[in-house]
Amino acid sequence: MKLNTITTGFSRLDKDQKIDLVSSKVADPEFFSNTLHASWHRDPATQKMIDEFSENTLGNYFFPYGVAPNFLINGKMYMVPLVIEESSVVAAASGAAKFWAERGGFHSEVIGIEKIGQVHFTWNGGFNLLNRFFPEIRKQMIANTERITSNMMKRGGGILDIKLVDMTDKIPDYYQVKATFDTKDSMGANFINSCLEEFADTLRDFAAGCVDFSPFSLQVIMSILSNYTPDCLVRTWVEGEIKEGHHYDDLYTDREFVTRFETGVRIAQVDRYRATTHNKGIYNGIDAVVLATGNDFRAVEACGHAYASRNGDYSSLSKVEISGNTFRFSLEVPMAVGTVGGLTHLHPLAKLSLDLLGNPDASELMMIASAAGLANNYSAVKSLVTKGIQKGHMKMHLLNILNVYNATDEEKKHAVEFFKHEKVSHSAVNGFLQSIRGS
Ligand code: MEV
Repeated sequence: MKLNTITTGFSRLDKDQKIDLVSSKVADPEFFSNTLHASWHRDPATQKMIDEFSENTLGNYFFPYGVAPNFLINGKMYMVPLVIEESSVVAAASGAAKFWAERGGFHSEVIGIEKIGQVHFTWNGGFNLLNRFFPEIRKQMIANTERITSNMMKRGGGILDIKLVDMTDKIPDYYQVKATFDTKDSMGANFINSCLEEFADTLRDFAAGCVDFSPFSLQVIMSILSNYTPDCLVRTWVEGEIKEGHHYDDLYTDREFVTRFETGVRIAQVDRYRATTHNKGIYNGIDAVVLATGNDFRAVEACGHAYASRNGDYSSLSKVEISGNTFRFSLEVPMAVGTVGGLTHLHPLAKLSLDLLGNPDASELMMIASAAGLANNYSAVKSLVTKGIQKGHMKMHLLNILNVYNATDEEKKHAVEFFKHEKVSHSAVNGFLQSIRGS
C-alpha cells in the first residue's frame, strides 16, 4: 500500500489488525510491532481502560513520572508529582521548593473558581425585543437544565448566572448567552457543555413558539464552554528578606541578586519574546502537575496564555515586588482543574498522584500546581540572571546524551564524574567516550 493512499475503515479494525496495518508502512514492521506491544501495561484490564481513553490506541507513550519533595504550601508539606520529559524541570522544582521551604514556603490563595460557557447565536430582530423576553428565556433555561444540574447543586455548585450579550458591534446580528458555573471539584467540561446545549434548545424552542419573534430569525451557531476562565484564578507567592545571610545566590550579594532578578522579570513584562519563554518556564511546572493528576494541560495553558495577554500585549504571568528589605515573587494564574471526574480517578497514576497529594480538592490542586509553576520560574530566572542556564541544564541533559551514544553504566559513571568540572556538549561527550573506549 502506498503511503499517500486514503485509509478507510481503520477505526473498525481490531487493535492487532491496526498494528499490523501501521507496521506494514515502516521499514522494520516486526520491530515496530514488537515495540508497540512492549509498551502495553502488564495488566490487560488496565491496558483496555487506557485504550479506551482515546481512539485507535496502539500502545502507550512513556513520559517520566517524578516527584519534587519539600513543597511547603500554606504551612503544609507536599511531595509534588510531576510528569515531564524535559531534563532539569524536576530538579529546578525540587531546588526552589527546598530553598523556599527553609524560608517560610509558598503562600497561596484561590481568588475565584468561576467557569464560563457560551451559546453563540444570530438574531435579526434587534436587541430590545430579545432582551425583553430574556428573563423568561433564562427561567426556562434553568428549569430545563434541572436534571443536569441537580447533582451538582447537591454538591453546592451549579449555574451561577446566565446573561445575554450583544455582540452586534463585532458581527451583525451576533449575540451570546454567556453563563457562569461553579463546578466544585470537577473541571466540569461535560457538565457545562451539556447545560449549554440545553440552553441552546430552550432558546430555539422559545423563538419558534413566541409570536413576537415570528417575523424574525434566530439561529444557534454553536454552544461550548470557554477555556478562558479569568475568574478561576489562583495567586501564589514567596517572600524573603533582603539581607546578607539569606543567600539567594553565591555569585552576588542578596541585594544585587534581587535587583538582577527583578530586572529579569520586568523584561518579561515588557517584551513578548522574553515573556513567552518566561511563561513557558512557568508551565514546565504547572503542566507537569496538571498531567500527573489527569487534568487537561491544553486547557490550562491556553487559558494562561490568554490571561497573559489580557491587557493588550502578551506579558509575564509572574511579578517581583521589592519593598524595603522584602523581596516578594508572585504568580497569578487562571487554572481550571478538577480532582473528581475525567481521568482523575481512572488513570492509575493520576489516582496515585492525588493520593500522594492527600486527595486535595480542586482549589488545593490549583495552589499546588501554581506553586510548581512559581518554583520552576524562580529557578529558571535565578539561573539566567546568575550563572546562566546551560551549565545546570547540560549537566542534567548529560544522561540523555550518553544514551544517544549507547554508553554503558560504567561509562556513564566515569562521564558524570568527568563532566562535574567540564562543559557538557554532544561533541565533548562523544570525544570523552571515544577516549575511554579507545583506552
Ligand atoms: C526551558 O524549558 C525553560 C526556560 O527557558 C524558562 C526561562 O527562560 O525562563 C529556562
